[in-house]
Amino acid sequence: MKFALTAATVVAAFISGAVAQTAGQWGQCGGNGYTGPTQCPSGWVCTPVSPPWYYQCLQGTSTTSSSSRSSSSSSRSSSSSSSSSRSTSSSSSTRSTSTSSSSTRSTSTSTATTSGSTVIPTATGNPFSGKTVWLSTYYAAEVDSAADQVSDATLKAKILKVKEIPTFTWLDTIAKVATLDDYLPAASGKIFQLVVYDLPNRDCHANASNGELFFDQGGAAKYQGYIDGIAAAVKRNPSTTVIAVIEPDSLANLVTNLSDPRCSAAADGYKSSTTYALKTLAAAGVYMYMDAGHAGWLGWPANISPAADLFVTMWTNGGKSPFIRGLATNVANYNALTAASPDPATQGNANYDETHYINALAPMLRTKGWNAQFIVDQGRSGVQNIRSAWGNWCNIKGAGFGLRPTTNTGNQYIDAIVWIKPGGESDGTSNTSATRYDTMCGGPDAKIPAPEAGQWFQAYFVDLVNNANPAF
Ligand code: GLC
Repeated sequence: MKFALTAATVVAAFISGAVAQTAGQWGQCGGNGYTGPTQCPSGWVCTPVSPPWYYQCLQGTSTTSSSSRSSSSSSRSSSSSSSSSRSTSSSSSTRSTSTSSSSTRSTSTSTATTSGSTVIPTATGNPFSGKTVWLSTYYAAEVDSAADQVSDATLKAKILKVKEIPTFTWLDTIAKVATLDDYLPAASGKIFQLVVYDLPNRDCHANASNGELFFDQGGAAKYQGYIDGIAAAVKRNPSTTVIAVIEPDSLANLVTNLSDPRCSAAADGYKSSTTYALKTLAAAGVYMYMDAGHAGWLGWPANISPAADLFVTMWTNGGKSPFIRGLATNVANYNALTAASPDPATQGNANYDETHYINALAPMLRTKGWNAQFIVDQGRSGVQNIRSAWGNWCNIKGAGFGLRPTTNTGNQYIDAIVWIKPGGESDGTSNTSATRYDTMCGGPDAKIPAPEAGQWFQAYFVDLVNNANPAF
């Protein structure tokens, strides 16, 4: 769904008989679990980007047929079961985020064919400061096709404005790593916003976003390959500033959902795989914000302190790199940054919006030694008081696009307001017979009928546009 150019190229090569064995430029050409074409076009070399998991056609000096790369078939049997997760928040002090000339990774040239000189990247404060965020061509294409389906000229004009607002690119499968070779050069000189989202046993307390990797099927090693592939692509594009959200919902599930055997079984793996991601991506110069749930999840008194402990532990395990910049909250959720008054669904939680949550959590982290900064997803937070229970998270009816991305946050702890969930992509299917059906997606607050997670949900998108606050 989200991979356009490269995947299309690969698929085209795959299905056209004569070149059936030739991957496209920048395409994947080998790796464990890979079954596609294994040769590269003339002038391109099948290169072990993260062996044995990921080989890619990169520009080189000789043609090659990619010999010994294994290509066993990939396996995926998404487990199913029930429940919630991304359930359901400061007043703010002010500090205008330091405007630093945030160039970061100084220009090194590491290319595919030479492993390149190693320049140690240097982190420089708020990575969003003073830079433009690249607009995802993939999301723009989704929005364009949404506009094509609408005849009302006023609505169409509003829809097209959504294209001007940056969202994040979710790498929710290994196959999508190859898209970085289109996106990162295109984002040269700008910020590229990325969600790292392929942990084995993903979405352990829900069904809607169960993933492709499993710890009991070699998932940890495959995940390392996935991370290595991302790191390699970033190193090949040193003039792009990469900012990543690390694994939505995963650590939060370890705070509150260990009574779910699926989460307790995944806990050690989540931690070690996340540590691998933090270390590897920090070494590549990726600015990272670990997902930290939201006010209605970890903002509760019983949860916030263990959450702070876990986040500091992970920052420590990750080597305390300044590239582990902080935490991302409200990812794909609906909470206000600052609610005018507590939503009745917040049931007396003092941290009833993201500002309260962040202002409570940040000092706890500082006491433990981590000066973590925050980013907050406001992409679908334009309308409040629309949930019958704070824990409802799937395609909530009545939602609207929210505050626009900015570094002008009015809060010393918040680097940027961002749109992480690409508004219009579904949270999960409402088809009760689907393997990944989650009862949340058929619940009283969920708009139906809804397609699979990540797929375009036109009716929902139109609602987000019409209900946008600020309005378009
Ligand atoms: C969901 C999906 C994922 C998608 C993301 C952004 O969580 O599981 O496939 O990329 O949302 O829409």
